[in-house]
Amino acid sequence: MTPVNAPAFVRHTKLIEWVSQIAELTQPDHIEWCDGSDVENQRLLDLMVSKGTLVKLNEDKRPGSYLARSSPSDVARVEDRTYICSETKEDAGATNNWAEPAEMRHTLNGLFKGCMKGRTLYVVPFSMGPLGSPIAHIGVELTDSPYVVVNMRIMARMGKAVYDVLGTDGEFIPCVHTVASPLAAGQSDVAWPSNDTKYIVHFPQTREIWSYGSGYGGNALLGKKCLALRIASAMGRDQGWLAEHMLILGVTNPKGEKHYVAAAFPSACGKTNFAMLIPPAGYEGWKVETVGDDIAWIKPNKDGRLYAINPEAGFFGVAPGTSEKTNPNCMATLHKEVIFTNVALTDDGDVWWEGMSKELPSHLIDWTGQDWTPDCGRKAAHPNARFTVSAAQCPSIDADWENPAGVPISAFIFGGRRADTMPLVSEAPDWVNGVYKAATMGSETTAAAAGQQGVVRSDPFAMLPFCGYNMGDYFKHWLKIGERLEADAKANGIAMPRIFQVNWFRRDADGKFVWPGFGQNMRVLEWMIDRCEGRANATPSIAGLVPAYEDLHWQGLDFTKSQFEEVTRLNAQEWHRELDYHQALFERLGDHVPAEILACHDALEQSLDQAV
Ligand code: OXD
Ligand code: MN
Repeated sequence: MTPVNAPAFVRHTKLIEWVSQIAELTQPDHIEWCDGSDVENQRLLDLMVSKGTLVKLNEDKRPGSYLARSSPSDVARVEDRTYICSETKEDAGATNNWAEPAEMRHTLNGLFKGCMKGRTLYVVPFSMGPLGSPIAHIGVELTDSPYVVVNMRIMARMGKAVYDVLGTDGEFIPCVHTVASPLAAGQSDVAWPSNDTKYIVHFPQTREIWSYGSGYGGNALLGKKCLALRIASAMGRDQGWLAEHMLILGVTNPKGEKHYVAAAFPSACGKTNFAMLIPPAGYEGWKVETVGDDIAWIKPNKDGRLYAINPEAGFFGVAPGTSEKTNPNCMATLHKEVIFTNVALTDDGDVWWEGMSKELPSHLIDWTGQDWTPDCGRKAAHPNARFTVSAAQCPSIDADWENPAGVPISAFIFGGRRADTMPLVSEAPDWVNGVYKAATMGSETTAAAAGQQGVVRSDPFAMLPFCGYNMGDYFKHWLKIGERLEADAKANGIAMPRIFQVNWFRRDADGKFVWPGFGQNMRVLEWMIDRCEGRANATPSIAGLVPAYEDLHWQGLDFTKSQFEEVTRLNAQEWHRELDYHQALFERLGDHVPAEILACHDALEQSLDQAV
């Protein structure tokens, strides 16, 4: 047993034994048990500044904030290196990479042997969900990256208090992370250690996470995509709840009616902007408040409602495109204590990224550390550049964002990035059709994941990279939750949550976006809330129930009927192609796709000619 010198506040024997076992395998020079204190945080930030991993930003302009530049080969999630090692391949399903668990353990054992030599192993205890809440889950990440420690402190409830909740035998999800860049004696370090070989591995049966070779984002901050989505989705399947790639927002109208909605969009489709929406001119007296911008854990309650919590404590958002115009609440959130990654550095020690301002700075240091000028032909920030910031700093944060009971969900919204086919908004006539809509949603790919960009790919529930088990079984799980909800809702005399689909990204013949988006999405939100209150019109179509021009309110915006037609037009040819995409998805998913979903597809095909 490698001695690990656990401090007195750690009383959990199994945890101490596990740390010792991982230390034996990875052979770090030192072990540090993180307490999450300000002193510890500052020490790690100073350490990374001295090593060149972080640049301290101008204290007057951006107090307590830092910039990290990753290695150019470590800038996004690596989906092709991400594995779900369930017992059988079938349980992982066609959309996940799978490896036989024993074989993968053997591979990882070889890779992790001595991988932390010359480095410090940090023990990072964290809670996803409010500390001590009955719906929170605890993880412990062992990492050799101080960058991960300071980011985890923002993104989760991290530190000593987690040990108090864990006590002597509490349950935790073990997460092991290494940048996989051991240092020989006397070898000097690089600013961003990482390894070209990468593995992001999940064992859903034993609830373990192992991450090798990347220091970045969802590959390394293991509470986020790995625990709160991939492992939690498998836990939700077993325990009757949902772990979803969804923002949560509350909307209040001038009458004081408040509804919470949960919305799923693929990565980098504006979830943070939508979660922090500011009602536009014409919507005086309306309020939109933020519960979360990326992940929702949703549980059915006996009262017949679904309640959602945001398991995270911070935002790890895409910086490019964020501005005073597109998301003033986010810009205000970013005023202090931010860790930026792969944005550009201004000459006065602040940050800049594409879309932040109309005028381009005359000189910057770009995300690769090189001089940048407007005519140099390169982007100043990486398209997947990120900020990490505490959610508590957000001016629109909802009063109930940390309520352990969660907030009641009135509606779900599913949206993709589609140049054509999908109208601005539509509503599913019932739960099963809503599950069909979510299951078949597609989106043009973005820079959040490595690989080709701009091609339409099926992204069921925006969970394609995040579902920790067979996607067909995941659809079944949603249907099962719906059945239970329907029975409880009926017994309590309340309505089921409605399910909507949106597309903010329709383009005209010249390739220009037609819908203004951002704050103007409020108009669509208003129609949804009115539908929930049973007072807005909708007409059946191939895309579901859709509003006419007159059913939306246009005060404060010059948007003509013909522009509306442009964002809502349904084209038979496009829909034939769309249903072919759905068919191809079902063929790929195989025989786990529920019969109810296949029946929806048949019904749509049959009605296509009449309905469009
Ligand atoms: C994210 C993602 O980082 O979805 O939230 O990629
Ligand atoms: Mn996301």
